[in-house]
Amino acid sequence: MNAQENYDILVIGSGAAGLTLALHLAARYRVALISKQRLQDGSTWFAQGGIAAVLDETDSVESHIADTLDAGAGLCHPSSVRFTVEAGAAAIRWLIHQGVDFTREGSDYHLTKEGGHSYRRIIHSTDATGRAVHSTLIDRVRSSDNIDCFEQHLAVDLIRQPDPREGRFRCGGAYLLDRSSGEVALFQAKTVVLATGGASKAYLYTSNPDGASGDGIAMAWRAGCRVANMEFNQFHPTCLYHPRAKALLVTEALRGEGAYLKLPDGSRFMDRFDRRGELAPRDIVARAIDHEMKRLGADCLFLDISHREPDFVREHFPTVYNNCLQYGIDITRKPIPVVPAAHYTCGGIMVDRYGRTDLDQLYAIGETTFTGLHGANRLASNSLLECLVYARSTAMHIDKHLGAVQSPRPAPPWDASRVTDSDEDVVISHNWDELRRFMWDYVGIVRTRKRLLRAQHRVKLLQREIREFYANYRITNDLVELRNLALVSELIIRSALERRESRGLHYSLDYPQLRELAMDTILVPENFANQRQFI
Ligand code: FAD
Ligand code: SIN
Repeated sequence: MNAQENYDILVIGSGAAGLTLALHLAARYRVALISKQRLQDGSTWFAQGGIAAVLDETDSVESHIADTLDAGAGLCHPSSVRFTVEAGAAAIRWLIHQGVDFTREGSDYHLTKEGGHSYRRIIHSTDATGRAVHSTLIDRVRSSDNIDCFEQHLAVDLIRQPDPREGRFRCGGAYLLDRSSGEVALFQAKTVVLATGGASKAYLYTSNPDGASGDGIAMAWRAGCRVANMEFNQFHPTCLYHPRAKALLVTEALRGEGAYLKLPDGSRFMDRFDRRGELAPRDIVARAIDHEMKRLGADCLFLDISHREPDFVREHFPTVYNNCLQYGIDITRKPIPVVPAAHYTCGGIMVDRYGRTDLDQLYAIGETTFTGLHGANRLASNSLLECLVYARSTAMHIDKHLGAVQSPRPAPPWDASRVTDSDEDVVISHNWDELRRFMWDYVGIVRTRKRLLRAQHRVKLLQREIREFYANYRITNDLVELRNLALVSELIIRSALERRESRGLHYSLDYPQLRELAMDTILVPENFANQRQFI
């Protein structure tokens, strides 16, 4: 028997974006908060460096805006940047009010620096900022009477319905796979919010936790929403290189506090690539590392903070210190072996400043979206800021309009009458590996048209197999994620092929020049829902 639930608001995703929105709305509405794993399983928990905001009187909004625009390589939407940066300090005050314990220096908060920032403006909780923010917000959500949490529930697809009153299409809920029972339940709500995070699992090497499979982007696309700038995948320059280490970031704040990038012979090299040296924006640093690794045939390069006082290092970077020590590397004495890895999805579902998508009653917030803030390369620590700011503005918009929204029409239950259990799950794991490997090899830091076309061919073959599997077998978490990752990879490749220039994170050997006119890459689905004016 398939369960059916009805709510005012269905929030899919329990990272910084989803939790913030749920908390802003819980006083007045019944909210269902959905997470495909536990509430704490998402990128937010792992954030290290901090949150960028103008908090010091020597800093200014204009300077944060200028740094964001500069990192974004001409493609940021200035109105989105101003909107986000101006709301930064209030977003931080809200977090402090919720109980987040940021690192202090005397009576003030300690602010650190990261690549591309002209000032110390990153508020943090040592190097475990994500955990401090996430655990505080989770506690608040768990103590709310109006928020029902559904963990281990995977959103499979959105319900798209015609709305005869408006002559448009609307969202009426979602189908959710209960991972413990294997049943698919129907959740209907007046409003649905996607807060499902990014898609960096499309790449073999990533700083992201499992689950960053772009589900929200794929579901929104299938429901008729446009996506933009999917070619801009940010590679973080410094992830720990060790055969047994999986997805361990070494925060950019180390470089903010003086760490040097070094070649295997111990010499520094970043000054050859940018006057800002180690603190150049991420696209430049990652490309420089990639270039030097290829030039020298090196498996990794090194990040060295051993010249700073050991107590300072241990006190400011306990996470990185302990993570590295697990692998026998004492960072107070030795350089850290590092490589770049896929880290952040700059593009995503197109939304306006109230999180509205092309489908009525479907909103989206956080890393799954394209707001225009990041342009061709996200400035460090602007991501959590975007989650907080857009979650609030979206919540305000929902609150203002929900009274006039009708309940959705009843949708049919999930039909599993024509499928059987698969006895070939090995095909799924094989396809996962293949997809992530060719995305890494052909659609990585440096691209060529030939490699992109090769990747496009491969992804189409995989999608054919996945479609067959999907039609014949009962769905599982791995199959749903693979289907989404393959679709998102297709969108990344299509966008990369459309961009005939090198800008920010998209670097093509065939088109090394920057075009004079900066344009977003906007992809329109065949079943495009409603026209919405975004900016
Ligand atoms: P997430 O926190 O990723 O949460 C996504 C949620 O959606 C999860 O609850 C997941 O279970 C759920 N979900 C996904 N798909 C489904 C589905 N189909 N059904 C149900 N639930 C689903 N940014 C900064 O600004 N500063 C930093 O210092 C920083 N450090 C970082 C360090 C690391 C290691 C990483 C990986 C990222 C870092 N980032 C940082 C980026 C930032 O953490 C993320 O962009 C941000 O946390 C994204 O938040 P979110 O709420 O959009 O998504
Ligand atoms: C880091 O701490 O280096 C990550 C910061 C970010 O992704 O914004």
